Amino acid sequence: MTPVISIVADEEEAGSVIARRIADDIEADPQCAIGVATGSSPLPIYRYLAVLVDRGLSIGGVDWFALDEYLGLADGHPESYRSILLRDLARPLSIAPAKLHLPDPFTDDPDAAAGDYEHEVSDARVRAQIVGIGRNGHLGFNEPGTPLDSPTHRARLTESTRAANARFFDSIDDVPQWCITQGLGTIMRAARIELIATGEVKADAVARALYGPVSPDCPASVLQTHPQVYVTLDAGAASALPQQKIAAS
Ligand code: F6R
Repeated sequence: MTPVISIVADEEEAGSVIARRIADDIEADPQCAIGVATGSSPLPIYRYLAVLVDRGLSIGGVDWFALDEYLGLADGHPESYRSILLRDLARPLSIAPAKLHLPDPFTDDPDAAAGDYEHEVSDARVRAQIVGIGRNGHLGFNEPGTPLDSPTHRARLTESTRAANARFFDSIDDVPQWCITQGLGTIMRAARIELIATGEVKADAVARALYGPVSPDCPASVLQTHPQVYVTLDAGAASALPQQKIAAS
């Protein structure tokens, strides 16, 4: 089905639009599971969810499932995705740490940990999955070439993704090489997907994801085959979309 595309004024509006839909999910099913992403893009969603919680939204029954986690960082490293989600999501929203779920990066057998997380996410039946998009079209850490039906798996980050994420570390050498990520098949099982992208740097990836061929060359293109996708963009991220598609959306 065609994704529902909204072009909004700025990242704060993008965050509030998506946070309101997530709040509707939670009000409809207070025990639901919500999939969350890290990176810069979803932060305005979490900021606005905190506003809604302040206004009385009750989220104590919700389970929050991360898309991915780095392998190879020390326990408690400030850039691990557990640390980031505790800092940017759980603490501001008073989410109990036990309600935050990530792949376990501290095992001798990351492939088994990936399998365990696949089951956990599948059993949870994610109601809405928030995703950002990589400049190369990655979704989660499903880099170009990943099969479109992949389960949660151990994956190697491309050099371009490590370079993009180097801004969070002292140097690119400190960016992990490996991670565990929900697969594209895992992400696609969420009942709804909320893609947020802001800035012209994402324009090409967004256009390829929405209107290019559905192919592992652009992992996010798999979203074209999902029945319920909302895409929220600012003008920069929308700037490479075909004009007639924007007018029609
Ligand atoms: C994060 C993730 C990645 C990011 C993507 C965009 O959990 O899985 O796919 O969503 O790299 O990152 P930002 O939002 O920082 O541009």
